[in-house]
Amino acid sequence: MNLEEIREVVKSKLSEKRYNHSICVMKRCAEIANMYEVDIETMQKIGIAHDIAKELEPKEKLEYVKNNRIQIDEMELENTTLLHAKIGAHFSIKYFGFTPEMGQAIEAHTTGMPDMNIFAKILFVADRTSEDRNFEDIGKLNKILDINLDEAVLYVLDKKIELQLKKGKSMHVNTIITRNELIKQLENK
Ligand SMILES: [Fe+2]
Ligand SMILES: [Fe+2]
Repeated sequence: MNLEEIREVVKSKLSEKRYNHSICVMKRCAEIANMYEVDIETMQKIGIAHDIAKELEPKEKLEYVKNNRIQIDEMELENTTLLHAKIGAHFSIKYFGFTPEMGQAIEAHTTGMPDMNIFAKILFVADRTSEDRNFEDIGKLNKILDINLDEAVLYVLDKKIELQLKKGKSMHVNTIITRNELIKQLENK
């Protein structure tokens, strides 16, 4: 599907607020893609589609993973919000014609994932620096992003972990693994 067609489907599946968020992430994805010389339209498609499954009911999410034989872990079963990443990836590959690499970006966008590809890294940062977000540290994060995409991903992972700690909530294991992996890679550079 082309970008316009994907946009229409996304619009039909999300509330106005979440659709607006998706548009903002799409724009941010294009900006970061431009900075890092990645195909802009590919990144726009990933950005607009990334939260496509976000507003499914928990029951619908569980049905979707069952019907499509998507492997899920214990934490995703307990916190079905997390599942919008895997479902969104699956849906985008199946209906929007995404490549597996584009799908990986959506799958990784909530918790991070070991071996994130460039699409995944861009989306991960775009989802936190889009125009509709108002984190106080956006300026700081954007400065890091100007220099190094991996450092920016690491920063977002740290913030996610900090937030979970503050809330006294559990952390998905992928977030920790991704962080450890990035630290190691950055140290070896
Ligand atoms: Fe999301
Ligand atoms: Fe999002």
